[in-house]
Amino acid sequence: MPPTKLDQPRKYWDRLFAPSSALAMITTVDGQGRVNAASYGTCTRVHHEPMGIAFTANVGADNANNILAGSAFVVNLPRFDQESLEKVRIVGLPFPPGVSELDKAGLTAIPSTIVKPPRIAECPRHFECTVEWTKEWSNRLMIVGKVVAASVDADCVDAEGYVLWDKVKSAHYCGAPYGGQFVAAYEKVPADVPYEGPEVEAFLKRERGMFKEH
Ligand SMILES: Cc1cc2nc3c(=O)[nH]c(=O)nc-3n(C[C@H](O)[C@H](O)[C@H](O)COP(=O)(O)O)c2cc1C
Repeated sequence: MPPTKLDQPRKYWDRLFAPSSALAMITTVDGQGRVNAASYGTCTRVHHEPMGIAFTANVGADNANNILAGSAFVVNLPRFDQESLEKVRIVGLPFPPGVSELDKAGLTAIPSTIVKPPRIAECPRHFECTVEWTKEWSNRLMIVGKVVAASVDADCVDAEGYVLWDKVKSAHYCGAPYGGQFVAAYEKVPADVPYEGPEVEAFLKRERGMFKEH
């Protein structure tokens, strides 16, 4: 049985994507409706409201081609555990177009709530995105998407949409030079601003404005 997914209201999307960059598996669909998935270490939350997520893909890769042909995309954030990370590595292999990376990795596609590409059931957090803009640079395609829906495993957030860190177990990719290594990102340490000056109040005022209820 796939886990129960909780649709999150817009005011909680930003707090659901934390830390602000994360290891991700992203799904798209091609012109024939076939699902494609790939893994990314470059996926970052780049705007609060409207909420924006960006990543870069190699020019010519299947996801990049699907997005340039008009596909929306879904950002699925996997857990930091051995089984999930090994599946992330399988999804990152260069399968030809039309081959389902999700089947190869033993992952389950479940329908998204708004866009065509599916969510990956085994990932606790999902961000359904429409494409805002793309730009090719240095043989990479930068993709910036606008989040149009977000959902989460029901036991992974509190009643106010804050992430339960020990449940979602955020992960980061160390990068190609490290080979297949990942680091965990779910130990919470609150840090104050030990500085006196008008900049502190200016910053807090800006933050309060940014997070007023929508
Ligand atoms: C952990 C991990 C992180 C990766 N990060 C990126 C990335 O940020 N950008 C990228 O273009 N490829 C990245 N890759 C490689 C792609 O997942 C891989 O090239 C994949 O085959 C592309 O699939 P596609 O042709 O179906 O789009 C990563 C792979 C792994 C395993």
